[in-house]
Amino acid sequence: MEIWWIIRTLPFLALLSPSSSFSSERQNDSEVPELLALRIKHFEEGQDAYLRCSNKTWNNTLHHIWKINNSGVHCLISEAANKPRHNNCTGGMTLRNTTKGELYLYIPHFGIKDEGTYKCEEVYRGGADVAIITVFARVPPVLSTRLEHDGGQRFAVCSAARGKPEATVSWEEEWWSPKVTERSTNNTDGTVTMESWLLLPDDITQGNLTCVASHASWTHKHSVVMEMTDGSFTLFITLSSIIVLSVVIVTAVSTYVCLKINETQ
Ligand SMILES: *[C@@H]1O[C@H](CO)[C@@H](O)[C@H](O)[C@H]1NC(C)=O
Ligand SMILES: *[C@@H]1O[C@H](CO)[C@@H](O)[C@H](O)[C@H]1NC(C)=O
Ligand SMILES: *[C@@H]1O[C@H](CO)[C@@H](O)[C@H](O)[C@H]1NC(C)=O
Ligand SMILES: *[C@@H]1O[C@H](CO)[C@@H](O)[C@H](O)[C@H]1NC(C)=O
Ligand SMILES: *[C@@H]1O[C@H](CO)[C@@H](O)[C@H](O)[C@H]1NC(C)=O
Ligand SMILES: *[C@@H]1O[C@H](CO)[C@@H](O)[C@H](O)[C@H]1NC(C)=O
Ligand SMILES: *[C@@H]1O[C@H](CO)[C@@H](O)[C@H](O)[C@H]1NC(C)=O
Ligand SMILES: *[C@@H]1O[C@H](CO)[C@@H](O)[C@H](O)[C@H]1NC(C)=O
Repeated sequence: MEIWWIIRTLPFLALLSPSSSFSSERQNDSEVPELLALRIKHFEEGQDAYLRCSNKTWNNTLHHIWKINNSGVHCLISEAANKPRHNNCTGGMTLRNTTKGELYLYIPHFGIKDEGTYKCEEVYRGGADVAIITVFARVPPVLSTRLEHDGGQRFAVCSAARGKPEATVSWEEEWWSPKVTERSTNNTDGTVTMESWLLLPDDITQGNLTCVASHASWTHKHSVVMEMTDGSFTLFITLSSIIVLSVVIVTAVSTYVCLKINETQ
């Protein structure tokens, strides 16, 4: 009970008046602990994550507590010198020791579900550390290209699917001035699909287009080449012709059948 009060109050007291809140308990100001640290961390989806509260070693620590808030789902992991361990977190989150005896939180296969606020409180002889670490997952997108037909126009689409945070996509081409629109979709899993739609003029039926994307997970830009050949355009013409022809045939046949039915009645 007492510890929770101290932990909750510590950062605020410290912000208001670092020395007065402790001088009654401690004779020496240089022992006033480093109190509240705010940090932001990113982890790649699928990789194991490690979070450190401080670099104090366990043998000096009285309590070590993580209070975790994953989008409103709260859980707690604690280790105290004279109390049983507590851990009601799911997904295999555990406290571990380094060989030097420093405690850290281990999160296996970090994912979007593990995003949230990780508040740790470490109380040791002579002070306490509190850190609030906001943790995000990074998901590299899947890069692809395709040809789309929309409203009688042809588009080359450069797509970076399921990225977190969203990727940036663009087309690199050399031989005409581009008309490009960007479309983004928020996926239900928290990822974003980014697309760059490049309007292809009718007279362009072949050539190479390069779809380029950059993402926080990548140190370099990634690219995919889309090879347009006369073939794909011819295929489009052929498919269109087949569709038109089918419509004509179906109409003719139905007309014929209708006439036949009328005749027999
Ligand atoms: C305060 O503590 C530090 C180390 O703990 C020590 O070096 C220093 O002399 C102390 N100062 C006073 C005024 O006691
Ligand atoms: C602990 O971390 C602090 C800063 O975060 C650093 O100044 C100090 O050297 C570290 N101590 C050890 C033993 O690594
Ligand atoms: C705690 O452990 C570290 C590393 O094993 C050691 O250097 C340090 O002296 C120990 N401190 C105490 C108070 O036992
Ligand atoms: C937990 O996180 C959610 C959003 O992820 C936030 O709305 C809520 O206020 C947080 N709860 C606490 C107690 O911080
Ligand atoms: C874990 O335990 C804490 C404290 O006892 C409680 O507030 C929290 O709701 C529990 N979470 C789950 C998922 O059981
Ligand atoms: C870390 O190591 C200490 C000393 O070996 C041990 O008492 C403690 O239970 C360990 N904690 C965890 C979470 O493994
Ligand atoms: C997608 O999410 C972002 C940020 O969460 C928001 O600003 C944007 O309006 C959303 N877009 C759509 C199409 O819902
Ligand atoms: C497109 O790229 C392919 C292979 O990368 C190459 O063989 C072809 O010559 C290129 N076409 C043009 C028009 O640059």
